[in-house]
Amino acid sequence: MTDKYAVIGNPISHSKSPLIHKMFAEQTGQEISYEAIEAPLDGFAATIERLRNSGYKGCNVTVPFKFDAFKIATQLSERAQAAQAVNTLKFDGEIILGDNTDGAGLVRDIQHNLGVSLQDKRALLMGAGGAAYGVILPLLWTGVKLTVVNRTLEKAKQLGAAFAARGQISICSYAELDGKVFDCVINATSSGLSGEMPPLPRNHQIPLNPPFKKGEARVPPFAKESTDIPTFAKGGAGGIFAPGALAYDMMYGRETPFMKFAREQGATVVSDGLGMLVEQAAESFFLWRSVRPDTAPVIAALRT
Ligand code: ATR
Repeated sequence: MTDKYAVIGNPISHSKSPLIHKMFAEQTGQEISYEAIEAPLDGFAATIERLRNSGYKGCNVTVPFKFDAFKIATQLSERAQAAQAVNTLKFDGEIILGDNTDGAGLVRDIQHNLGVSLQDKRALLMGAGGAAYGVILPLLWTGVKLTVVNRTLEKAKQLGAAFAARGQISICSYAELDGKVFDCVINATSSGLSGEMPPLPRNHQIPLNPPFKKGEARVPPFAKESTDIPTFAKGGAGGIFAPGALAYDMMYGRETPFMKFAREQGATVVSDGLGMLVEQAAESFFLWRSVRPDTAPVIAALRT
């Protein structure tokens, strides 16, 4: 029998999740259906009730319902508790299990797909909204040295306090970043949506001719050895990016001002968040089906 799943959001028509899960199902031979459902803004709980009564096995949850899903869950994974948000529900009789696979998706994309180890690295996470909360615990689990920066400093401090029992996070304002250097800078702000750039310090010694072409989402971490890479891309001129640094934007679909800035300022690996999208879906699929799909062909298909 075909098991039913869905993604619930509002709006939802743009979602790539049905396509991703269809590819996962075909690849793994799992008999599932997966559809996009738009719930009314005041009707998330009723929608979940309807799905459970109709025999659905679980669902993904996206904007603006991740906190509603957190509240509705009868059991929560540790990462969902920490995130205070749920993007994956699994229905099991009376139990509604709530999980959050966003952070695992981000970490897997960085460490596995981009080949950048985070352990003991200096990482800067920009943002202190829901997107940031969603990824912090899995980031801390990698052993990264984490700094969180936010435009509204108070929100970053609240975030630091919320995670204090789970790991060490340095909190700072954008102004305090001057002179600091990071191996990895992750954009968890919504700035890209409005075509804005977070106020990161710019190194004006670095010329405005990026070493990598626009749209080149990923450049292999070979900068130290390669002679083709300009000195400043190796960190020679000392911007916010350390030699070999990764710049990661959790948004996908187009180059954000942050990604452009990162290319110009000499980040060695610049990535959007498409891989994270597919990896968080794979993690949900695994939770539901106990089968881990191969994400590489799915990411490749979505890029074409
Ligand atoms: P989300 O759930 O996507 O995280 P959110 O809760 O509205 O959305 O949070 C948006 C985040 O992006 C916030 O951290 C916001 O900073 P403030 O708390 O100071 O508002 C950040 N943000 C949005 N636009 C930004 C910009 N242009 N520069 C820097 N940070 C920005």
